[in-house]
Parts: sequence; structure tokens; C-alpha cells
Amino acid sequence: MSTRVKKNLDAAGKYPTGGGDTEWFVQDRFGLFIHWGLYALGARHEWLMHRESIPVDVYEQRYFARFDPDLYDPQRWARAAAQAGMKYMVATSKHHEGFCLWDSRQTGYKAPRTPARRDLLRPMLDAFRAEGLRTGLYYSLLDWHHPDFVIDNRFGPYRDLSDEARARMNAGRSMPRYAAYMRKQVTELLTQYGPIDIMWFDFSYPAPEHPDDFTRGKGRLAWESEKLVRLARKLRPSIIIDDRLDLPGAGDIRTPEQFQPRAWVTEQGRRVVWETCQTLSGSWGYHRDEATWRTPDELIRTLIDCVAKGGNLLLNVGPTGRGEFDARALACLEGIGTWMRRHGRSIYGCTAAPDDMPTPENCRLTYNPQTRRLYVHVLAWPFKHLHLEGLRDRVKYAQLLNDASEISCGAGEWYTRQAGAPAGDNLLTLNLPPIKPDVAVPVIELFLN
Ligand code: GLC
Repeated sequence: MSTRVKKNLDAAGKYPTGGGDTEWFVQDRFGLFIHWGLYALGARHEWLMHRESIPVDVYEQRYFARFDPDLYDPQRWARAAAQAGMKYMVATSKHHEGFCLWDSRQTGYKAPRTPARRDLLRPMLDAFRAEGLRTGLYYSLLDWHHPDFVIDNRFGPYRDLSDEARARMNAGRSMPRYAAYMRKQVTELLTQYGPIDIMWFDFSYPAPEHPDDFTRGKGRLAWESEKLVRLARKLRPSIIIDDRLDLPGAGDIRTPEQFQPRAWVTEQGRRVVWETCQTLSGSWGYHRDEATWRTPDELIRTLIDCVAKGGNLLLNVGPTGRGEFDARALACLEGIGTWMRRHGRSIYGCTAAPDDMPTPENCRLTYNPQTRRLYVHVLAWPFKHLHLEGLRDRVKYAQLLNDASEISCGAGEWYTRQAGAPAGDNLLTLNLPPIKPDVAVPVIELFLN
């Protein structure tokens, strides 16, 4: 039962988007997500305001009044990301708590009014650009602080109130006014902060039967998503916009969250541009006591898995309230960087292998269509032989990527018989060293005809 997926390339060889430029995006493949806000002080997940139903004034007194990242050094962040092999970043300009990292003229709830006393976003963007990374901004559609944001029974600190109490708090609030506030903020971000390549709006939750009842949920009607998208595209035509505005067809990228897709992500049977976002542990914001930290090896496999399925990985760090990447995050980035330095060639500019090249056991394939090289990522090192179906006549040369050491290719009657394949099979057998190379995931680079 093979449901063949249409590649759906247009004349220029691109996948369908909402109009943004994803050309660089599908080359670069690997980005850094940064979740940084007042919740870093709570150090127990960026949703703590919701989870613990912390009222706005209490949250302000506790965290806004104390936000003082005295060790903030964005050059260090940028260097750590560049050394890990990341090519772009997406930073939270504002998360659901409503706090703004930049000097927005639309609100006083911003970094310059905390003990930090300055715009924290601008130096971050500058530092990452200086390291050669592209820059994107996450912008929360939800805002649990804004006085016009209509309180609903789904999310935020007041979700458990009675309908009457909520109605009382909602008196005078206005979503159209809040939507206008968002447009003004997005205008600031897209006109005063240099070349922004991605706008990552987050997220929509309309009540299915009552899309216009904003006390039960919010989607495109609440955000006025169409206007927001039109504005962003007008200010920056090439910008990449995500898919969380509840506007089908308007986004450029699909964004599965904490989830590896089983294959290339499709929509109505057509392949699309996608990026999964993943945490290093279970939280996006800095979480002191979270214990499910992933290992560099595992993260490297995740990155490989993305590219092998035609997608990107946006890997998150939640800096501390003092403004640092903590030791666990740095160790992860360093481990990835060690591998990327030698294996970036199997990631950048690469995508899924052509359909007629089956993936060998315990492997992931990536392919660079420009150089016509195929990369076999060997997840479990076999003893001496690796069999590649259908490649006998197509490989000119093979080498281990980590040290450019030649790998000899076996083909022909003797090999086919040993491998238990039928005579005349187009099997190619690689003769591997018996000892696994000392890298997280060894990669064999195949030069195709
Ligand atoms: C979410 C969450 C969140 C996180 C994000 C990343 O929807 O609300 O805290 O920022 O997605 O994908």
C-alpha cells in the first residue's frame, strides 16, 4: 500500500509557501530557539503564570520588579550557537506573560523598565548577526498581562474564575484594540530591528463551535490574523511566517512541537516546508529542577532525522534570570558542535534522499542535490558490512565523512551471494572498519554518478 506523495514543486523548484522566502531556510536546516522572559526567575516553566494562577499584580511584583540579568552577554550566546553549527535563531520578543524584551513604545511592561534598564533584544540580534546567523522573532499572540486582552476560560491565570467573575474582569476589554496593539508592536519589530527573517506567531485556540466568542478561545478573528500577516509581508516581503495564526494557507512553514514526524510532513498529500521545535529538557523557559535533559548524541540523531525527512530543527535554550545559558545547555551545544564541525556537510544543503534509494537498516539518508552526494548516517554500527540496495552502478567513491578515509565498495556476484541477494541484484556492499569511528553518529559520504 504505497500512497505516493506528490512533491508539488512549482516551476522554480520550490515547495508551496504562503509567499515567504524559504530558500535559505531549507539549506540552513538548524536553528536556535531562545525562550527568555520574566519566567526565567520562576525557573519552573514559562507557563507558571497560568499553571499556578498567579494574578498579574503578584507576577509583576515578584518578577518584573526583580528582572536583573547582570551576566547577560549576547556575544557568548551567539558564539555558542555558531559553534554548535546553528545558522539561524528565533528569540521570544514577547511570550504569553506579555513582557517585552525590547523597548516597545506601546507598553511599559518591557525590559527597560526592569532593573535591567535597557533594551535586551537589540544587542541579541546584533550579536547573532555578527556571528553570521539569520534572525527571527517569536511573538506571542496570547497576552496574559495586557488590559485589553479578553480573559478566556482556557488559558492564563484567571481561567478558573466563574463566568460572572470573568465577565466583571472583562468589562472594558477589547480584542480589536489588542489586535491593533499587536500590529503596532510587530511594526516596531519589523522596522526598527534590522533584517528579521522569520516571524513566529504563537498560537491559536479558537473554540470550534464559537470562533467569535473570545471568552472561550481565540483564533484568526481574535488576532485579526489576516491583517497581521498582510502587515508583516508588506514590511518584509521575504519574511517566513509560521502556521499558528489559524489561517490555513497563509504560513510558510509547518511547526510540529516536541514531536518528530514519521516522514516528510505533507498537507493534502503534498510535501511542505517544515521545522520541528524541540527542548533540551521538558521546558522552553529556564527550568532549574527539570531532569529530563537529553544527551548530545540523541539531539544529533534528532537533527539527522529532521533532514532525512526534508525538515529543519529549531532547538531551544532557556537562559537563566542572570542572563546565561546554563552548564547543561552549553554541554549539549558543545557536543552537537563537535559532531557538526566534521559532519555539517551531511546537514547543510541536504534533504531527503531520492525515493528510489531505500534506507538501509539502522540508518538515515540525507542527500545534497547540488553536489550529488548521498550521506549514510549509521545509527548502529554493523560488523564489517553495510548493504545498499540498488546503488551498485551509481556510486563512484565512498568515504567516512569524519576523516575522509576511503571506504571500499564491494559489488558483484560474490558479494551478492554472501549477502543473500538474488543474482543480478543491484546491491552495493560497503566494507566498513570493524571498530566504529569515534564520533556520535558516523556518516559515509557516497559520491554518486
Ligand atoms: C507553545 C507554548 C510555548 C512555547 C511554544 C514553542 O505553544 O505555549 O510555551 O513557546 O509553543 O513552540
